[in-house]
Amino acid sequence: MHNNLVKKGIVLAGGCGSRLYPSTIAVSKQLLPVYDKPMIYYPISTLMLSGIKDILIITSPSDADNFKRLLGDGSRFGVKFSYAIQPSADGLAQAFIIGEEFINNEPVALILGDNIFYGQSFSKMLQEASLNVSTNSGATVFAYKVKNPQRFGVVQFDKNNRVKSIVEKPKVPKSDYAITGLYFYDENVCKYAKTLKPSKRGELEITDLNNIYLKKKKLDVKLFGRGFSWLDTGTFESLMQAGAYIKTIEDNQGIKIACLEEIAYNLGYLTKEEIEKNIVFANNDYYSYILNLIK
Ligand code: DAU
Repeated sequence: MHNNLVKKGIVLAGGCGSRLYPSTIAVSKQLLPVYDKPMIYYPISTLMLSGIKDILIITSPSDADNFKRLLGDGSRFGVKFSYAIQPSADGLAQAFIIGEEFINNEPVALILGDNIFYGQSFSKMLQEASLNVSTNSGATVFAYKVKNPQRFGVVQFDKNNRVKSIVEKPKVPKSDYAITGLYFYDENVCKYAKTLKPSKRGELEITDLNNIYLKKKKLDVKLFGRGFSWLDTGTFESLMQAGAYIKTIEDNQGIKIACLEEIAYNLGYLTKEEIEKNIVFANNDYYSYILNLIK
């Protein structure tokens, strides 16, 4: 792996998840299972595959201890987790205000704790985006064709197919391309985030932040192709479908998606002996997969 990649990442896992009430009254959405592992494993795997080992997890106040119990200091996965609290869901861009000390004027990736990505050459794309931001500065974000763009930040292209603007939840979307919840920013991100004003819905919008980079001609939008999956987990139905999708691929191919121990092993972060020493085994398929890996 290139040693000039972005070194820090944030998983934003706050919010009250009210669209999934009553399931999320007592527990954060990002702790709910997506088939055989908690939702937050998937975005953590994305950061790990980007080459990031230093990860800040931002949670709601009420569930901070549950995230810590699940993930610990990261040593079980060969990475380092630190934790911060978002008192209320005041917008995605607030991650760069809460995380300012952690970021320490360095480039950083942000991923939403409910975003699941899966597809061929994903690691390569991630590392290219990371290298681009750390060497050329600016921001790199990703767009994906969706059926219901009005629910997302939407990219508008000009007639030469250049990005013209990004609009948050447009009533009349100018394209079908949604900006996904994965962002790479250069070391200016905290400075820019501090200039943002709350939007009409009262949030510090990541879309406004992206438009700052766009205005400076420093925003790169990469497209995920049709063979790529970006799964929604925001409703009962889409959460169920995401779990079924993961199960189908895992069953068909005999692999696991977002098995953090396996990723740590493949990246050389942990030896087989270290995995064995740290793990708390249970008699199920997730752990027999790891046992098989390290035997
Ligand atoms: O998923 C991608 C979309 O995420 C982008 O296309 C949009 O541009 C971006 O604004 C955002 O859309 P939503 O407004 O629909 O995001 P939502 O409010 O559902 O929050 C996404 C996740 O982040 C959710 O799991 C809750 C968490 N969250 C959200 C906010 C606003 C936080 O942890 N803190 C927050 O302050």
